[in-house]
Amino acid sequence: MNSSRHFPIKAIQIFMLFLVLGFGFSIISMNTYRTFVKKCAIVEAPSTYQLSIESWIRTPSSLRHAMNDTELFWRASFYPRIKEYPFKRVPKIAFMFLAAGPLPLAPLWQKFFDGHEGLYSIYIHSSPSYVASFPPTSVFYNRHIPSQVVEWGEMSMCDAERRLLANALLDISNEWFVLVSESCIPLRNFTIVYLYISRSKYSFMGSFDEDGPNGRFRYNEKMKPEVTLPQWRKGAQWFEVDRALAVLIVEDIKYYPKFKNFCKPYCYVDEHYFPTMLTIKVPHLLANRTLTRADWSRGGPHPATYERSDITEEFFKKIFESETCLYNNQPSTVCFLFARKFAPSSLDPLLELSSKVFRF
Ligand SMILES: *[C@@H]1O[C@H](CO)[C@@H](O)[C@H](O)[C@H]1NC(C)=O
Ligand SMILES: *[C@@H]1O[C@H](CO)[C@@H](O)[C@H](O)[C@H]1NC(C)=O
Ligand SMILES: *[C@@H]1O[C@H](CO)[C@@H](O)[C@H](O)[C@H]1NC(C)=O
Repeated sequence: MNSSRHFPIKAIQIFMLFLVLGFGFSIISMNTYRTFVKKCAIVEAPSTYQLSIESWIRTPSSLRHAMNDTELFWRASFYPRIKEYPFKRVPKIAFMFLAAGPLPLAPLWQKFFDGHEGLYSIYIHSSPSYVASFPPTSVFYNRHIPSQVVEWGEMSMCDAERRLLANALLDISNEWFVLVSESCIPLRNFTIVYLYISRSKYSFMGSFDEDGPNGRFRYNEKMKPEVTLPQWRKGAQWFEVDRALAVLIVEDIKYYPKFKNFCKPYCYVDEHYFPTMLTIKVPHLLANRTLTRADWSRGGPHPATYERSDITEEFFKKIFESETCLYNNQPSTVCFLFARKFAPSSLDPLLELSSKVFRF
């Protein structure tokens, strides 16, 4: 009786001991397992990570990246096939400055941009050896894209333009893309420029069929069948295109080798590649004229360059009065939004006249 009465107590004690040990083990192993799982999970997906469109729609905080052109163009060629955006999107104009080095007219552009934050973005392609020194307060601060050497009239010029487009395409809010140079100036204030571009049914790519040595004579039969003589076009380098056309330019692999191999000086490829390709692909989307005024009246291979002494109120009055063109198929007296070429010495008089003449 006595021993049998003691037995269950001992058994219960042993049982309790096992229970405590077992419980302890399970806690330890669970913890070990958890940290193990966590370690593995970091490689696959952090525990707080969820797919979101934020990474797609956010404006990149820096223009620096480690992609080469092949990778960059591939990445930039993505586009949404659903036309309506499922978030509030304020479309911006990307101003792409193709420059050798400094931007001597930067103070004028700064004045033009001031007060319109959120409606524009800026990209600069310059010689890779050039070190910019814009202060943090400048709209041009940290706006250089990874650049490469450009030779005038060569395919490397078109490469630089495509590089600018591709970098600007990475920001989904950029809707229109304007190519300008360091010697270009704005002729109208930002409000007018934004309305003019955003309300246009067409992209402003100069594109015309010119006979003679500077036009059809530059065509090379070896471009057939991709490009035929009647399709051959010429146009000024300085363009404005919308997002769809920018993607067409960046994604092209069909026409690119034809122009690279068979349009070499004295065929100036930057005057033919984009106008011809876009006229073949999307003729109905082109205004066939440029927004950038140039003065060829002085003759020679380059347009006139204006110096300090050229810049007067009358000078611009004459320019504005002489304008007539079609805008959305209607006659218009506002034809150019930008002009070239302006020497660094023209900056001071331009700044002085800008509020009166350009209204900014
Ligand atoms: C870019 O890098 C990829 C992968 O290394 C390579 O296949 C491609 O040829 C490179 N493109 C250029 C233009 O260097
Ligand atoms: C911009 O220019 C237009 C016409 O030139 C003018 O009516 C308008 O007041 C100007 N806007 C500003 C903010 O100065
Ligand atoms: C531009 O030219 C193309 C042919 O080269 C033509 O189809 C198109 O209608 C022109 N655009 C405008 C706005 O007239």
